[in-house]
Amino acid sequence: MKIPARAKINLTLEVLGDRPDGYHDLHSVVMPVSVADSIVLEHSDSSAPSLSVTAADGAPVDLSKIGPPEKNLAVKAALVLAAETQHRPDVSISIEKRIPLGGGLGGGSADAAAVLVGLNALWNLGLTRLELATIGAFVGSDVPALALGGAVLMEGRGERVSPLFPPNFVSVPPIDLVLVNPGVFSSTPAVFKANRNTRLTNDARILDNIRQSLAAGDVEGVSRAMDNDLADAARTLYPEIGRAEDALKAAGAVGVLMSGSGATVFGLVRSPEHGREVVDRLAGSGFKTVLAHTCPVV
Ligand code: C5P
Repeated sequence: MKIPARAKINLTLEVLGDRPDGYHDLHSVVMPVSVADSIVLEHSDSSAPSLSVTAADGAPVDLSKIGPPEKNLAVKAALVLAAETQHRPDVSISIEKRIPLGGGLGGGSADAAAVLVGLNALWNLGLTRLELATIGAFVGSDVPALALGGAVLMEGRGERVSPLFPPNFVSVPPIDLVLVNPGVFSSTPAVFKANRNTRLTNDARILDNIRQSLAAGDVEGVSRAMDNDLADAARTLYPEIGRAEDALKAAGAVGVLMSGSGATVFGLVRSPEHGREVVDRLAGSGFKTVLAHTCPVV
């Protein structure tokens, strides 16, 4: 079975403060994007999941940054799902990576979420997306949102997820994007530690504005509503992030934001043609760019 493991961007990310468990309470609108790893899941005769990881042709993926299999989130997802459902974790997992590592695009979490969705079918478990998201919370903070799929509001440590739009909502148009990889690996714990932008409570206007603008396909409105509390800390730790943001703005993107804890920066554009113009203008900048679009529905 072959399935895509979509990366995500955070269109908003509000940090609400420290938690006793060392994590932070968040309020974030998460959106899958068209950039994806490919995952092949096959039945194996072994009693433990096996893993192979390769880089897709031309993808900015440094395989030396991938940890050992026992720390891999895709393997962890298979083990957690097997334990929760009393199934043998007899699966071989092959991942072709396209999502950059340490990029704030949730690559490891995307693989884990895709393994949950894929094994649910392969093992005939019949779990709902919300049940998979609940199991995903034991794997990693971004896994529930990506297991639920589509545009999601993520709360708590990341374990509370809800669809941003009702199931039969007419249609939320995709938005074209240019992703820019500043070429630095951003450490999530380091960025959270350095962050000084915390709020007592989330700002309801941010959520209202982003939801309405997304529903209307209003690129300018989404650009005005986008916000990431972690961006200042990440820019201070990794100045390349600020340079990538400036380059993307100068190249004509409508709105620019860092995703998650960085380092990837994305720019909203009005059309694929506009995206190609922005990519062309960035050609001499030294930054790696990818044209993509949001995937608002599952
Ligand atoms: O859960 P995950 O492994 O993705 O989190 C990586 C790191 O990010 C955590 O160890 C923590 O430092 C930070 N984090 C946080 N609050 C969150 C999510 C992640 O502080 N809600």
